[in-house]
Amino acid sequence: NDELFKNVISHAKEYGFVFQSSEIYDGLSAVYDYGQNGAELKNNIKAYWWKSMVQMHENIVGIDAAIFMHPTTWKASGHVDGFSDPMIDNKDSKKRYRADQLLEDKIARYEKDGKTDKAAKLQTAMDEALKGENLTALRDLIVEHEIACPVSGTKNWTDVRQFNLMFSTQMGAVADDADLVYLRPETAQGIFVNYLNVQKTGRMKIPFGIAQIGKAFRNEVIARQFIMRMREFEQMEMQFFVRPGTEMEWYAYWKEARLKWHKALGTDSKKYRFHDHTKLAHYANAAVDIEFEFPFGFKEVEGIHSRTDFDLSQHQKFSGKKLQYFDNDLNEDGKPVGNYIPYVIETSIGLDRMFLLTMINAYEEEDLSEGDKTDSRVVLKLHPCLAPVKAAIFPLTKKDGLPEKAKEIMDSLKLDHNVIYEEKDAIGKRYRRQDAIGTPFCITVDHQTLEDNTVTIRHRDTMQQERVAVDKLDQMIASLVSW
Ligand code: GAP
Repeated sequence: NDELFKNVISHAKEYGFVFQSSEIYDGLSAVYDYGQNGAELKNNIKAYWWKSMVQMHENIVGIDAAIFMHPTTWKASGHVDGFSDPMIDNKDSKKRYRADQLLEDKIARYEKDGKTDKAAKLQTAMDEALKGENLTALRDLIVEHEIACPVSGTKNWTDVRQFNLMFSTQMGAVADDADLVYLRPETAQGIFVNYLNVQKTGRMKIPFGIAQIGKAFRNEVIARQFIMRMREFEQMEMQFFVRPGTEMEWYAYWKEARLKWHKALGTDSKKYRFHDHTKLAHYANAAVDIEFEFPFGFKEVEGIHSRTDFDLSQHQKFSGKKLQYFDNDLNEDGKPVGNYIPYVIETSIGLDRMFLLTMINAYEEEDLSEGDKTDSRVVLKLHPCLAPVKAAIFPLTKKDGLPEKAKEIMDSLKLDHNVIYEEKDAIGKRYRRQDAIGTPFCITVDHQTLEDNTVTIRHRDTMQQERVAVDKLDQMIASLVSW
């Protein structure tokens, strides 16, 4: 499994899906860039989510809020006080370190020195301490493993204290007067503060939802496993506003609806499971994760949370603006339900995690050996609707007018589909390159094309070929890559 994960990571780089950020400067920890194929795949995942959440639900609309928000937002949401990581200071150098980072460096050192048992033990102890937010245990590990300050070389440490995970920066030209602003750690708050704007201007009637896709930033404690845990990442979130008392019904609805969304991509059901939270956040009265079986175990991809009226009440309190809804529906006594602060069911999925899930799920190393002829291929069996490139068009040779014909076909398709043209190398090699990026169809233009205007279409998964009329191509691709 480790091997599979490593192969997926190197494949992602080799074929232009994911690069380390600022790689020429040796990268930036837990920050990644999406390459030419990665950007397409990511956009397709976003489109799949947006279509199913916004386009398919008459009562859900989408917004795009700013990353910067008024600083009070994060006081109201609880992030200023409660969203933190453990840090430790060296008393001699006065330098501050992330406690877990010191331990991680020690683990790496042990591994380098071949002390794998020690490394594994420390890793387990550290993970446990972090999970239980046991700051004393973290410090004890630093002392026990005789970790020295990289600057002073001494082992004179303070206690471990919590420091906030939010990135901050200053807004305004004069540093002294400038306001401290945060880079949002979740997109959800942009929805909460716009709840009334959208409800009024969209004349939305409860129950209704607001959806959003956007960047979020967290100065994460444990940043590893490639794009699983990043410091800059993207979320696809939807807040569904409901009448108090009906939230459990909607919670159940969204739990199932979201799992269905995942499964509709054809993923093996056994790879998904729900994980109900027993320990709830202060704002939630129910929470569940949708977990996927990654090569390193079942891990959260998406959360569905019943957030009660916590966020809207907090924003009402901190802003002094009424964030209520007037419900015209009639009660049993024939009177309108009246004013209330809506309850919220939230669905929140990490786009980058969904991307990783999709890559891992699609990646296959196939043995194509026949007799004593050995052969193999790496193929990304992506759902055609997610594939970065829908079709590749190849002239069989670089002469006899075949390239011109192939380009003409490409021009006729490119408005509707992301298609590419390739004339380099033998056809077999070109097929393999397209398999590696998950292109569902390869179209070959040969001499017969010039006579009867037909081409061969080769299907990625079956590798079967069929002869098709050029004027049927557009429709054929459209039906096979449709949602
Ligand atoms: N508004 C609720 C919220 O933000 P969360 O469980 O903290 O809840 C939701 O995050 C989802 O965002 C997670 O299920 C995960 O997929 C993704 N996510 C969170 N932190 C992440 C990180 N550092 N890197 C990548 N994805 C992350």
